[in-house]
Amino acid sequence: MKIETKCLHEGYKPGNGEPLALPIYQSTTYNYDSTEHIGKLFDLTAEGHMYSRISNPTVAAVEEKIAALEGGVGALCTTSGQAAILISILNILGAGDHFISTSKIYGGTINLFSVTLKKFGIECTFVDQDLPEEELQKYFKENTKAVYGETLANPALSVLDIEKFARLAHKNNVPFIIDNTFATPILCRPIEYGADIVVHSTTKYMDGQAIQVGGVIVDSGNFDWCNGKYKEFTEPDESYHGVIYTKDFGKAAFITKARVQMMRDLGVYPSANAAFLLNLGLQTLAVRIERHCENAKKVAEYLNNSEKVEFVNYPALSDNKYYQLYKKYLPKGCSGVISFAIKGTRETAVKFMDSLKLASNAVHVADVHTLVLHPASSTHRQLTDEQLVAAGISPGLIRLSVGIENIEDIIADLEQGFERI
Ligand SMILES: Cc1ncc(COP(=O)(O)O)c(C=O)c1O
Repeated sequence: MKIETKCLHEGYKPGNGEPLALPIYQSTTYNYDSTEHIGKLFDLTAEGHMYSRISNPTVAAVEEKIAALEGGVGALCTTSGQAAILISILNILGAGDHFISTSKIYGGTINLFSVTLKKFGIECTFVDQDLPEEELQKYFKENTKAVYGETLANPALSVLDIEKFARLAHKNNVPFIIDNTFATPILCRPIEYGADIVVHSTTKYMDGQAIQVGGVIVDSGNFDWCNGKYKEFTEPDESYHGVIYTKDFGKAAFITKARVQMMRDLGVYPSANAAFLLNLGLQTLAVRIERHCENAKKVAEYLNNSEKVEFVNYPALSDNKYYQLYKKYLPKGCSGVISFAIKGTRETAVKFMDSLKLASNAVHVADVHTLVLHPASSTHRQLTDEQLVAAGISPGLIRLSVGIENIEDIIADLEQGFERI
């Protein structure tokens, strides 16, 4: 099946006379014939759902679909993108361990890595993703256990050289985790370029309609956890009567451990209802993404030609710093998200934004509706103009998430906004 078909036909596969739509199994509990069978579930020697903090048939169908879309051996849904990132790290690292992350990533992830994980005794070094491989190598230490980056970074829109990071991680015998939220598997499948673990905030394009927060982790099944560095994978887990993940679950060692150990203990599993809604989003993901990219490219070109715009940041523009990487990793398009700066002060940008009639002012991106956000008066409002520039955000910078409305209406809205400044 091609990816557009997988969006509809992977995961739940109804049999003769069964509902066409994914059923919502609204149950926390599952019925078994014998205590012996339940005992086997607890020993992880029998397959089946035990309790909906660990798995549920509706969520499982969505996990299977996302694993197929990314080309992994398994997936685990979570209640948020943040939870997916947290579990992907805690499943590998513990107190005293270190990992390397690119610095141009989502602000919430930077907080998680630099503040909260530090309290867990896990240290993160942030690196410039555009450095050559030899320079990046210098950041690896004896206790480095993972490498992390974003395919298409939020909000910087930088494109990651996935092969470079995968090569570097593997040379150092550590897994490469990548956040593929903005690209989605429709535009890029990082496992094909060597990524080991893929995470998503499904809150963005996968849901696509601002309905619910969610996340997912996908395991490629390709990383060798038996290389001597990852004892939790190769030594008995006492909390499961001595299960050895690599021995008992083979290629699915990472995702099984994430579910039965991390999810069991942290309890951030989505409800059947949440999975049902996510599945609705996934069914139309391919067509929505195609339209987002088509619209965004036209908007980026329009903005690029406007005299009122200082610069436009969108990797599909041929003068963009990441144009070559975009052509390699995102040839079908680079999402609906654009950032651009209006000439003038932060007040000019605010006036423009407040004049927009179609685009909503919202702290969200990657939605069917066109959305705008002015970092200088929202997420970064505490900073002075000088501090903003130091943080790489010009006072007139606007983040525009292009929706799937008719392109003429989107451009007409921007046009009338420009006329008012
Ligand atoms: C790239 C990226 N990763 C992770 C997250 C966190 O996801 P969530 O808000 O679903 O917890 C976000 C949220 O904006 C994001 O943009």
